[in-house]
Amino acid sequence: MVVLGIETSCDETSVAVVVSPGPEVLSNEVYSQIAAHQPFGGVVPELAARRHVDVLPGLIGKAIHDADVGWEDLDALAVTAGPGLASSLLVGVSAAKALALRLKVPLYPVNHLEGHVCSVFLGANAPRAEEACPMLVLLVTGGHTCLIAVDCIGGYRMLGQTLDDAAGEALDKGASMLGLPYPGGPSIEKAAQGGDPSLFAFPRGRVQGSSLRHLAGMEPELCFSYSGVKTSLLYRLRDLGATPAPGQLADLAAGYQEAVFDALLLRVEAAMDRAAYASFACVGGVARNQCLRGKLLALSESRDVPLLLAQPEYCTDNAAMIAATHALRSPTLRQDTGFACDVRPVWPLGAG
Ligand code: KG4
Ligand code: ZN
Repeated sequence: MVVLGIETSCDETSVAVVVSPGPEVLSNEVYSQIAAHQPFGGVVPELAARRHVDVLPGLIGKAIHDADVGWEDLDALAVTAGPGLASSLLVGVSAAKALALRLKVPLYPVNHLEGHVCSVFLGANAPRAEEACPMLVLLVTGGHTCLIAVDCIGGYRMLGQTLDDAAGEALDKGASMLGLPYPGGPSIEKAAQGGDPSLFAFPRGRVQGSSLRHLAGMEPELCFSYSGVKTSLLYRLRDLGATPAPGQLADLAAGYQEAVFDALLLRVEAAMDRAAYASFACVGGVARNQCLRGKLLALSESRDVPLLLAQPEYCTDNAAMIAATHALRSPTLRQDTGFACDVRPVWPLGAG
């Protein structure tokens, strides 16, 4: 089966061609809009949607060309239908509908979060889903931070999630306070090099049971909160007075990212205490971070649970993971929505 995937949920425009079994990636074109949004310190939704309109047609042609397939070889289209920015999602879904109509191939909506989960099954040495499950997944992006128990492809249980900011968002906002460019995750990672994380202590964000009223069935020990760590950085900077000196900047960045990551690790450990998993994985843009990857590796060794990390190019948003998600599904989970495909800006994982 040859699947063309389209991803436009935020500020990356991406098109990929993936074949199954495998899934094997034949092409994965990613146009990053970072430069367009950088002057604004974050993603501007209308600007993102307009850029998607400009670059998507060219990327579709390039993905087909680079995969060395013909239009007639495509068996299915998979498109991110949500969650994400409504206006951006609309561009990808509209393009997918037009292609499905023209090529007379089925169209399958894919949940962006499920795409991130499936990103660990891409690449040369990736395991098969049957071997990896039951799998504990830490999903850390700019919009989401959650812990998911993956029983099989399509079988997801949300164990915990953030009550406020996502980990990536906490890094993006922290970087902005430190005067570092967007996106904050890579900026903080770079600034933290050579810094001493123990010189500035930041809180690890505890969650009170009473604050979980809207998250029925979730345990406080498996949920996240990043509002405290941001406030703590704000007060630190205020107390330091002037702009931090270069040496201080490295220590602040190292201490801040350490607190963000330790909060993640604490919840992963708590989830491991509650159930046995064949493997655990970390997916999403923040999983590119080398400091976080090192901490996860140490945990994998101490707990003797194999760690699965997506290749860096499949951590940040890409269409290969969207096409692969469809390719990995069993036939009963494949629902061709055709022209009725609609965007779902809010779409909890496992909600059908
Ligand atoms: O998964 P992603 O590309 O988009 C969303 O679905 O949100 O994740 C984007 C997030 C941003 O918050 C960005 O700062 C963070 O991933 N990120 C990183 C790194 N690269 C990207 N965070 C920490 N270290 C990195 N190297
Ligand atoms: Zn994402």
